[in-house]
Amino acid sequence: MSPRYQQLITTLNQWNYEYYVLDNPTVADARYDQAFQELLAIEAGHPDWVTPDSPSQRVGAQPIDEFRKIEHRVKMLSLANAFSLEETYQFFEKAAKELDKAADELAVFAEPKLDGLAITIHYDHGLFSYAATRGDGQIGEDVSHNIKTIRSVPLKLTTDAPPAKLEVRGEVFMPKTAFAKLNRLAEENNGKTFVNPRNAAAGTIRQMDPKIAAGRDLRFIPYGIGEYQGGHDFTAHSEILAYLAGLGFRKNAHCYRFLGSLAEFTQNYALMEQAREGLPMEIDGIVYKIDSLALQNALGFIARSPKWAVARKFPAQQMVTQLLDVDFQVGRTGVLTPVARLEPVFVGGVTVSNATLHNMDEIERLGLCIGDSVEIQRAGDVIPKISRVVAEGGERKPVIMLPNCPVCGAAVERTPGQAAFRCSGGLSCPAQGAERIRHYASRKCMNIVNLGTKLIEVLYSKGVLRTIADIYTLKASDIADLDGQGEKSAQNVLDSINVSKATRLGTFIAALGIHEIGEESAKAVARHFKNYPAIANATFEELLQVPDIGPVMAKNIVDFFADAKNIAIVQAIIDAGVTWPDEDGAPPQAQPLAGQTWVITGTLSMPRDHFKTLLESLGAKVSGSVSKKTTCVLAGADAGSKLDKAEALGVKVLDEAQFKLQFES
Ligand code: IVH
Repeated sequence: MSPRYQQLITTLNQWNYEYYVLDNPTVADARYDQAFQELLAIEAGHPDWVTPDSPSQRVGAQPIDEFRKIEHRVKMLSLANAFSLEETYQFFEKAAKELDKAADELAVFAEPKLDGLAITIHYDHGLFSYAATRGDGQIGEDVSHNIKTIRSVPLKLTTDAPPAKLEVRGEVFMPKTAFAKLNRLAEENNGKTFVNPRNAAAGTIRQMDPKIAAGRDLRFIPYGIGEYQGGHDFTAHSEILAYLAGLGFRKNAHCYRFLGSLAEFTQNYALMEQAREGLPMEIDGIVYKIDSLALQNALGFIARSPKWAVARKFPAQQMVTQLLDVDFQVGRTGVLTPVARLEPVFVGGVTVSNATLHNMDEIERLGLCIGDSVEIQRAGDVIPKISRVVAEGGERKPVIMLPNCPVCGAAVERTPGQAAFRCSGGLSCPAQGAERIRHYASRKCMNIVNLGTKLIEVLYSKGVLRTIADIYTLKASDIADLDGQGEKSAQNVLDSINVSKATRLGTFIAALGIHEIGEESAKAVARHFKNYPAIANATFEELLQVPDIGPVMAKNIVDFFADAKNIAIVQAIIDAGVTWPDEDGAPPQAQPLAGQTWVITGTLSMPRDHFKTLLESLGAKVSGSVSKKTTCVLAGADAGSKLDKAEALGVKVLDEAQFKLQFES
């Protein structure tokens, strides 16, 4: 075995540890990948060298045929639950009494209760041997092939004196962001979505093919040990956790040790409840354990759970209730969203009587009818949703989309290939009105600086602003009489309306809020047709000639100008003095990035517009989605699916530092 091969394994495992256990990466991905490729090349030439802790061993395994049964030599216990402060405290008072002590003499160790699945991992002389699920506590299933893919599970313990045997027990879970990303990708590909991160983690671990787990971000955090044959004489649970962290495992954040008084339990619960939201993973409660192993042994177990630990659960995140009816809400963009009206139910600490159903496809997927018993799921701060039908109702009524908008009565339409149904009322539908006006007045559109969202909403609710044309008939008294406004602010609004009247054709078209016609496509249409009448009279075929305008956009433009109400509104605006020069249609002057298409994603040190303006000034087009035609992606921190897609398509990617080196020197 060559020294280089051994060095590569050590280095790659160290980088891996820094990234996945310490959350502190020290090398760029490219450098890691390069070293990994070198390792694979060496292994291809010397298959007999491959060692069990080589990073190649995480993903190399073949799919399994069946889950081998594993008998746990030390039973995997469960925990008793407590649902209130009183129940928690009583649990420890009882334990203390049995030990002839007072509760506040007991050192208690508190850990977040991670919401995933229990896994036990066996190490022989420091090397990963096998991993199993809890099963019924006595017999579980061998899931080594999937557990090995989890980067925070060491393949070799980081110690020079490994124990002969060590069984590490803990929770496998999926972080919230990884769960959201997995579901988003599944939705985009019409695949199966998961109800919550726990189901996603469990569903992944149950796969026969380890490639699936390797592609998903699962993590492991230990909370104890099973079998142990080694040199340490542990006296406390907290010592065991510290020992495991020293062997290369992740630590559970927000662990506390205190004496078990009522005040401490109260304070700890408040603390954890507060920390919960900011944690990267879901937690469903707090586990309190007596820290001393001698006291744990003295107490022992009853049935399946220890008498020295209890799980204080957060209020249930899922409850069953009845679907009473389904209404349709017309959103600010005209989309009709089905909303479930529910028999009120207490879930996750709040009473829920409505839940969004997203769209009609979701209703079909759930097989939902009015009258059914349904499970309501709350995940963190997420809006409650119906996760499944628990039982069909006696008198079931199907959910049917309305033929007409419940607000304005215009026909409801669905663009083929899209899930959403929309009101076709356009500028004249009141449900869409305030948002349309806000969009029209916004900075990127007509830029009416003193006509903000709040003011628009107030004027809209008073019936003063109904359509965008009404902006130009506003009187000072309409505004001056409102709460918090006066003569001066009213005049400021009118002044900014006047200033905004000189605009560009593309900007005006974008401001109309035609569905799917954003800033870029509106500019392209303006450049192509040069004047407003040409756009308003353009046919579907003519519109398709415009670069970047596809059939859906072309149809939306034709439909918009086919509606006499829209034409009248635009005419009123023109009559009020809104003007623009005709577009001369000349190509932009020669620029270094001319002809290139860029995509900006992730979090950058400055607003995206900064980078967009810079790129556009150099001649690039900035697009919202990555395709084969994308020249380059500027990816900030936490970039998601766009970055993944760029990588999959082999599109060039620059991070902010690299970008700045090239363009902002
Ligand atoms: S201790 C004998 N600590 O909760 C006690 N369990 O409801 C063993 N869990 O099966 C468990 N986080 O899967 C412990 N910090 C934590 C935990 C935790 C999550 C899970 C574990 C256990 C279940 C019991």
